[in-house]
Amino acid sequence: MLQSEIDGLSLELRGAVEAAGDLEALERIRVEVLGRKGRVTELLKGLGKMAPEQRLRIAPALNALKDGVAAALEQRRDRLKAAELDARLAAERLDLSLPARPEGEGRVHPVSQVMDELVAIFSDMGFTVAEGPDIEDDFHNFTALNIPPEHPARQMMDTFYLKPRPDGQRMVLRTHTSPVQIRTMRDNPPPYRIIVPGRTYRCDSDQTHTPMFHQVEGLVIDRDTHMGHLKGTLVEFCRAFFEVAEVKMRFRPSHFPFTEPSAEVDIGCSRKSGELRIGEGEDWLEILGCGMVHPKVLQNCGLDPEEWQGFAWGMGIDRIAMLKYGIPDLRAFFDCDLRWLRHYGFVPLDQPSLGRGLSR
Ligand code: DAH
Repeated sequence: MLQSEIDGLSLELRGAVEAAGDLEALERIRVEVLGRKGRVTELLKGLGKMAPEQRLRIAPALNALKDGVAAALEQRRDRLKAAELDARLAAERLDLSLPARPEGEGRVHPVSQVMDELVAIFSDMGFTVAEGPDIEDDFHNFTALNIPPEHPARQMMDTFYLKPRPDGQRMVLRTHTSPVQIRTMRDNPPPYRIIVPGRTYRCDSDQTHTPMFHQVEGLVIDRDTHMGHLKGTLVEFCRAFFEVAEVKMRFRPSHFPFTEPSAEVDIGCSRKSGELRIGEGEDWLEILGCGMVHPKVLQNCGLDPEEWQGFAWGMGIDRIAMLKYGIPDLRAFFDCDLRWLRHYGFVPLDQPSLGRGLSR
């Protein structure tokens, strides 16, 4: 065999390798050339039958041919694999830059929007969110909150009672979010700084009352928390929530069994030419009840009132949503009317945040 024949073969084989269009074709060539009965393999086997001096001349050339073809195969395989991956990536491409479609149908309900705003405001003040069950027992909804069985507050709350259980206990649909105060304090060690947004129920229905409505409870208990903290927290909340620099507020003495002293908070407003403006003006609107947590409530939760004290408040979420967004009738909140939701709802991607603004 001549060197020129080997060179010719090398050229031919490299050409075939380059021409292989996919990995399968390439593998076929490899078997044909370097497999057990491949062309180059056969040539190498032939070396044994050669005269020694001829073998000495041809062997290095044949080995070089084999190595050269093997290297070419490998290179080609790498390139084909890369091309295959590129093709797959192109085929499976997902265009993440596609714009979201805020003009679509879906809207966030004003109640959900306000809950998100509450969480944004109070988490910035170091509060966490706590939750409790909608179906409560008498102890958490009333007794532990210092509302004994014959207390008139039980009638005032228009409670929905469930059928008595075999043990005679009657569960209730919670009439307020306050039972979550009790659950939080009984299940965790102080201090506490929580808000509790959630559903509440009372047997009541008119333009400003629905049998199911929403409240947000707040609870702060620490070693030396006082009424100044209560006031500061609620003033700051009103400014942030109503998105105005100053809100006119009034703390009016009131009574709740679970706080002492107790207050109701009104915010200033004006109703000129049918338009309601929040934070200024001559009128007042009640938005929440609050007070210093009653020592008996603390005791009912195993806390020593000499050591721990703090404040709580409860606020109607639907109510402040109506005020902030000028929605006249509460009942429409729960009518599931798409036209209403398109008008009063919020674009899902505009998540409320203090930095970018709560509502836009
Ligand atoms: N639970 C009261 C209600 O539903 C609201 C309330 C008033 C909650 C004072 C409180 C509070 O935590 O301190 O009418």
